Amino acid sequence: MVAPGVPIAGLLLLLQYGCSVVAVELATGNPFPVVQEYQSVELSCIIKSTNTNDPRIEWKKIRNDETSYVYFENTIQGDLRNRAQVQSKSSLVILNTSRTDTGMYRCEVAAMDDDKKIAEISISLTVQVKPVAPKCSVPKAVPVGKSAALHCQESEGYPGSSYTWIRNGDPLPADSKSNPKFINSSFTADPKTGTLLFSAVTKGDMGSYYCIASNAAGSATCEEQVLEVYDLNVGGIVGGILVVVLVLALITAGICCAYRKGYFAGGTKSSGQNYKNPAKSEGVNYMRTGDEGDFRHKSSFVI
Ligand SMILES: *[C@@H]1O[C@H](CO)[C@@H](O)[C@H](O)[C@H]1NC(C)=O
Ligand SMILES: *[C@@H]1O[C@H](CO)[C@@H](O)[C@H](O)[C@H]1NC(C)=O
Repeated sequence: MVAPGVPIAGLLLLLQYGCSVVAVELATGNPFPVVQEYQSVELSCIIKSTNTNDPRIEWKKIRNDETSYVYFENTIQGDLRNRAQVQSKSSLVILNTSRTDTGMYRCEVAAMDDDKKIAEISISLTVQVKPVAPKCSVPKAVPVGKSAALHCQESEGYPGSSYTWIRNGDPLPADSKSNPKFINSSFTADPKTGTLLFSAVTKGDMGSYYCIASNAAGSATCEEQVLEVYDLNVGGIVGGILVVVLVLALITAGICCAYRKGYFAGGTKSSGQNYKNPAKSEGVNYMRTGDEGDFRHKSSFVI
């Protein structure tokens, strides 16, 4: 008399399960098919045994917790309508896969006898997408000793791309310390984010850089770009400033001398006159042409 429902329910479940195995039994050739976009794929659902000749067959798609019909009442439904067909009675063939086809598909087969036993099998489809050319950013010029970051990214590839940087034809390792070839450099290259980070650039880091984005479906590269590394020479900068100051001092001295000798006074007078004369005559011209008085005089003569 203690909780009789539990064992009875368990027994019922066992009975139901046992019966359904007898009524319809399903199998699949591949529960995790993987295909490249635009290729065809078969979602195999094989009826191993059934006690009816005419079982009801349905396909559903589950994506982001949403269930939609793919095959219902012997017709392909929705987005797959012109791209899919049912083969060998119950297998679904997508002829031209799209990246949006990735998801879980469920084949449901019901024996149409009095018991209406249903069997189902789930198939997880992955449609791989090739990467597109990544967007790369390489600084044009960096002074020796400064840090620098190069970025590489693309977002079409599925599964997500991994990134490799190439310098002057050599693929760069994830860490410069891992390879004696790059002993004079100090960088890390993250294959997941596509960022190549120099903690302090050296002259040896100068060169042509590009990046490869790749995944299981293919790869794509960005255009090669040149990174310049220049010396930030303190002595040179101080010398440069001194030269500029010297030149400015000479110019100032020259202008002072010119003023004293009266070159500037004469110059400004003559140039000022030259400038004023055409301005005046232009004004007069304008007054004449724009003058309505002449026109009025003429018209009054006519009247
Ligand atoms: C497959 O579908 C794409 C568009 O999704 C289309 O551009 C392409 O031509 C189709 N290929 C075939 C063989 O039908
Ligand atoms: C690293 O730098 C040293 C000294 O500047 C040089 O002799 C050596 O060839 C460099 N190594 C590489 C791998 O570039």
